[in-house]
Amino acid sequence: MTKVAIIGAGPCGLSILRSFEQAEKKGEKIPEIVCFDKQEDWGGLWNYSWRTGSDQYGDSVPNSMYRYLWSNGPKECLEFADYSFDEHFGKPIPSFPPREVLYDYILGRVKKGNSKNKVKFSTTVTNVVYNGSNFEVTYRDKKNATSSTDIFDYVVVANGHFSVPFIPEYPGMKAFPGRIMHSHDFRDAEEFRDKNVVVLGSSYSAEDVALQCHKYGAKSVTIAYRHNPMGFKWPKGMKEVFHLDRLEGNKAIFKDGHVQETDAVILCTGYLHHFPFLSEDLKLKTGNRLYPPKLYKGVVWQNNHKLIYLGMQDQFHTFNMFDCQAWFARDVIMGKIKVPDSSVIKKDINKWVSMEEKLENADQMIDFQTEYTKELYTLSDYPKIDFELIRKIFKEWEHHKVENIMTYRNKSFSSPVTGSVGPKHHTDWETAMDDSLKTFLDQPKR
Ligand SMILES: Cc1cc2nc3c(=O)[nH]c(=O)nc-3n(C[C@H](O)[C@H](O)[C@H](O)COP(=O)(O)OP(=O)(O)OC[C@H]3O[C@@H](n4cnc5c(N)ncnc54)[C@H](O)[C@@H]3O)c2cc1C
Ligand SMILES: NC(=O)c1ccc[n+]([C@@H]2O[C@H](COP(=O)([O-])OP(=O)(O)OC[C@H]3O[C@@H](n4cnc5c(N)ncnc54)[C@H](OP(=O)(O)O)[C@@H]3O)[C@@H](O)[C@H]2O)c1
Repeated sequence: MTKVAIIGAGPCGLSILRSFEQAEKKGEKIPEIVCFDKQEDWGGLWNYSWRTGSDQYGDSVPNSMYRYLWSNGPKECLEFADYSFDEHFGKPIPSFPPREVLYDYILGRVKKGNSKNKVKFSTTVTNVVYNGSNFEVTYRDKKNATSSTDIFDYVVVANGHFSVPFIPEYPGMKAFPGRIMHSHDFRDAEEFRDKNVVVLGSSYSAEDVALQCHKYGAKSVTIAYRHNPMGFKWPKGMKEVFHLDRLEGNKAIFKDGHVQETDAVILCTGYLHHFPFLSEDLKLKTGNRLYPPKLYKGVVWQNNHKLIYLGMQDQFHTFNMFDCQAWFARDVIMGKIKVPDSSVIKKDINKWVSMEEKLENADQMIDFQTEYTKELYTLSDYPKIDFELIRKIFKEWEHHKVENIMTYRNKSFSSPVTGSVGPKHHTDWETAMDDSLKTFLDQPKR
């Protein structure tokens, strides 16, 4: 029997577990599957942890999410085609839920099946080599402090790429008297109440960490971009300046002449694609981009078609794109989709990479990733979902952010799966301090 190793039980790992389960339900004979996750439970980044640094076994902590994190995109854009929000919650819910609500939703789908007994938890994959005919996968059971090696025909790499921080150094950091941290270790904006905070970066973490600090009472928040400013209309107490030059004592000095006294510097400088467990010939080497090279259909490793990567793209689309990738990968593994010869693969990869390199703005990027996801969608039996509506919602969302960065999370959209419209949340995001599932779902009667 074919044996498949899945590394990671975050959203991508869960997508492929679900895809095999659905095939089995249809009466198909599925491979033997073992999924490994270094955490004690599944859900990946969505499984919040207070820990930073390393865990009780000395293993690095993958979690990067923080308290009070709300979805930064409309939930309608990430809805599963085979498990709607209405089905999970029994009613329509607002469009921008907090982390705990999305975590509950992701798990709701897999809890209905028997995938959990396929996952080895607290187990870190430490080494993967291809011996010419199959993979030797070595993993460490952290609780029992034992290491084992098993043989697999296929390996699915689903370990995420927002867990290992990229940490640059700027002059003056060594002598800075305050706190310097990466957004990977950010857990609670309350820590920065009444403080002057400098945030480095100009992408989603910079935007949201800065907004969090402002929302929870920072005295001032100064965001420093390196190339392009985000350019939103920031509320009073927040500003965006050009590139940090150096720190001098507790002063941050920027390249546009700005000087800001600061208590803390938060590096929202992104993450590394990091695969310490893969041998060099199997390792994807890429930055955070919409079409990492060497992946056929964004999924199958060009040099070894038995190695699959899921979710390695920079992400507008998330959960339903992961599903489309997983359904495609499942069919490759089960022999229902034939991988073409190397010249066709090369041409296909080059086509996507060169299209990606021409993209100039967010709308074009949304179009690109929607086209990519739609192509995968047509190649498998992933259930019906309206990607044209998702494309439209993403573009409206982008424009809502430009209109007002403080209110875009109060908007509502309709579901690409059921058509139902998300009700307006009882509290605007700016004043909603309690992010618990209970408070979010308790919509007072109007
Ligand atoms: C701060 C932050 C906020 C985000 N907010 C949103 C949002 O609002 N909406 C959205 O759609 N997306 C959001 N994302 C994007 C997020 O990456 C995806 O939603 C999703 O979590 C990606 O799933 P994944 O399975 O690829 O990776 P992860 O969620 O990272 O899961 C990977 C899993 O692999 C395991 N693992 C890693 N290495 C090993 C190993 N060697 N052995 C065994 N197991 C291993 C980890 O324990 C983890 O459980 C956010 C990301 C970050 C960093
Ligand atoms: N739900 C939420 O609200 C939420 C919150 C946070 C994050 N997220 C998600 O988390 C994921 C990761 O986002 P991310 O922002 O951490 O990573 P990212 O999108 O990869 O962005 C990395 C940022 O770091 C900057 N940077 C890199 N090196 C730098 C340096 N030496 N000095 C200054 N800036 C530097 C980059 O700037 P340049 O452009 O200049 O290279 C870029 O702005 C995304 O999927 C996002 O959606 C979601």
